[in-house]
Amino acid sequence: MRFAKMKKDGEKIAALTAYDACFARLAADAGADVLLVGDSLGMVLQGRADTLAVTMREMIYHVRCVAAGAPGSFVVGDMPFASYQLSPQQAFANAAKLIAAGASMVKMEGGEELAETVRFVCERGVAVCAHAGLMPQRARKEGGYKVQGKTEESSAAVRRDARALCDAGAELMILELLPRALAAEVTAEIQTPTIGIGSGGECCGQVLVLHDMLGISGGKPKRFVRDFMQDAESVADAIGKYVAAVKSGEFPAAENSF
Ligand code: KIV
Repeated sequence: MRFAKMKKDGEKIAALTAYDACFARLAADAGADVLLVGDSLGMVLQGRADTLAVTMREMIYHVRCVAAGAPGSFVVGDMPFASYQLSPQQAFANAAKLIAAGASMVKMEGGEELAETVRFVCERGVAVCAHAGLMPQRARKEGGYKVQGKTEESSAAVRRDARALCDAGAELMILELLPRALAAEVTAEIQTPTIGIGSGGECCGQVLVLHDMLGISGGKPKRFVRDFMQDAESVADAIGKYVAAVKSGEFPAAENSF
């Protein structure tokens, strides 16, 4: 898997969300290594407060759009809330639909408790990106989007989660909203390449929500986001600058980390 080699070689993985053909093409042309069709589309495109109402049908539609707009790109399809938690069998059946729509890999949020499902899906030929740390599909229950792993107990839990998901066969792992030092430790401890969002620059790569890095999401600016449109001549230029900043290690800077 090319991301394992990138981790070994110290080459940063530049990932970006994409939800439609046009932006998928721009991101692919700019050299993004991963196009993530995230269920963040529930907030960004649908204007909802969180991601919980996004359906499989919607994810299939957007994966199709992205795969058609950027043929040959590495597309990760997000498994929406309640599409994989019931059983490993349910997860595989829905993962297969995203793969049929054009995804190269599927993403699921969860920790140790999801490891059996990840293993089941991987063993049946579907590549899995795990998602640990802050899990947006649990934010409503947990009361918001907060930095995770700040206490000894919770940082030990994140490390346990990451090890279990890696052992289960996850080939990529998103680490969301973790203290920089913890994300660095997890990245060093596991074989799976890590992609950070709000988790510092020592992860193997970075991902941002496209509309956040274009400065058009609205709302309060997030510490871990940089608005790449500010010094750019066009959307394509902004995406190019984001990819270059991730590749060089210049983004995220200390001011974007916790
Ligand atoms: O849904 C999404 O876009 C994501 C990223 C924020 C990692 O999960």
